[in-house]
Amino acid sequence: RQRADFVVVANRLPVDKETLPDGTIRWKRSPGGLVTALEPILRSHTGAWVGWSGVPDSAEDPEIDGLQIHAVPLSTSEIAEYYEGFSNATLWPLYHDVLVKPEYHREWWDTYVEVNRRFAEAASEAAAENAVVWVQDYQLQLVPKMLRMLRPDLRIGFFLHIPFPPVELFMQLPWRTEIVEGLLGADLIGFHLPGGAQNFLYLARRLAGQATSKGSVGVRAKFGVVQVGFRTVRVGAFPISIDSGDMDGKSKSRTVRGRAEELRAELGNPRKILLGVDRLDYTKGIDVRLRALSELLAENRVDPDEVAMIQLATPSRERVDSYVQMRADIEQLVGNINGRYGSVSRPIVQYIHRPVPRDELISFYVAADVMLVTPLRDGMNLVAKEYVACRSDLGGALVLSEFTGAAAELRSAYIANPYDLEGVKDAILSAVEQDPDEGRRRMRSLRRQVLAHDVSRWAKSFLGALGADTEVSYGPN
Ligand code: G6P
Repeated sequence: RQRADFVVVANRLPVDKETLPDGTIRWKRSPGGLVTALEPILRSHTGAWVGWSGVPDSAEDPEIDGLQIHAVPLSTSEIAEYYEGFSNATLWPLYHDVLVKPEYHREWWDTYVEVNRRFAEAASEAAAENAVVWVQDYQLQLVPKMLRMLRPDLRIGFFLHIPFPPVELFMQLPWRTEIVEGLLGADLIGFHLPGGAQNFLYLARRLAGQATSKGSVGVRAKFGVVQVGFRTVRVGAFPISIDSGDMDGKSKSRTVRGRAEELRAELGNPRKILLGVDRLDYTKGIDVRLRALSELLAENRVDPDEVAMIQLATPSRERVDSYVQMRADIEQLVGNINGRYGSVSRPIVQYIHRPVPRDELISFYVAADVMLVTPLRDGMNLVAKEYVACRSDLGGALVLSEFTGAAAELRSAYIANPYDLEGVKDAILSAVEQDPDEGRRRMRSLRRQVLAHDVSRWAKSFLGALGADTEVSYGPN
């Protein structure tokens, strides 16, 4: 195959592998935000995507209409130690305010190193001379350094899609120096927020500089720049977004509008529909909004005959203990609310623990009067932006946790501290009871932000800072 001049390296491939009942294998595209943003760039170059298929041991490379896919095989034990273990039971909770206790196991770390090496090797094989390689997220933080050692000719970018933690928490990590040095292999390191970039700069000075005595290169960190020997590493904030134009357009379609009406009717045309849309993850604060609703009902501040709540919860990381526990807690809360305030014909909370197709999801956004986004910590939260993009009618209201990256941009939402239950209840009530003019004013201002800052602008600004040429796909501007 022709070597690629633009390579994306991510834990996940932009396709899912499906094994049909008769044993045949089919690859289905899974267009998340990242894929949508990068696809035009990948197509206007010789583009390749390096990633894991999501199932054990598969090594064949699907070709998806013109896009080169390089599958990195993982064995069952590597999935347990690198993906479920180090990525999702060590780094994920550590980077999300230690909401559950991170587990530190040396075997998990060893496997993380080994799997990162395999990704780096695959990227090195896929990349042409002087190619641009963009490494994504916390699962692959060692890849930039490993790749640079293999291929000093490459231009390497790294973007972290989750929060970068406060220094005091990061320092717990027994392998903190290796991670910081791994990232410093990149030419550009991107975070969602300036705070994450600041945390990293401080650590780079403190940890990587310290390693000089052990023979590592010296590091000097200034604002936005780290000097690693003769190399300059740039560090900055690049808040990610969604394909807002596309969602805005889809939400206006007659089918979507009709389906939204149908959904309202299926729920018995309640006065207000509340909606939550999340991966089933303990960072998302699904329990927070359920508790808030439960108390509002108990205090007669919300009438059970007038509200319906829909919680769409996509199954996620189901073999990690903390996820199993949290699922049980949430399902119990849903059961409690319905048992206490629902009727046979009409539960208060409709809980759906399945992935929902994209068009159906947009209909839910259009139907919802109040969108509940209450994470305890979230790097960005694209659901908040999706909801806003879908409300061209200027209807609806957004309740948004101040601990999401999105809260830095979506200032006209009903912002609440998810640890302050009274505050969350007040925010929900304000959103439920908002004056329509006030609602339109807020939504107009939210939409201005989301429509002007879409995901292609994000990709373009990151790649522009990396010095990559993105003009071909997006033209001047
Ligand atoms: C977050 C992470 C992504 C990850 C996604 C889904 O958004 O930042 O890297 O792909 O969650 O999680 P999963 O473990 O299913 O890939």
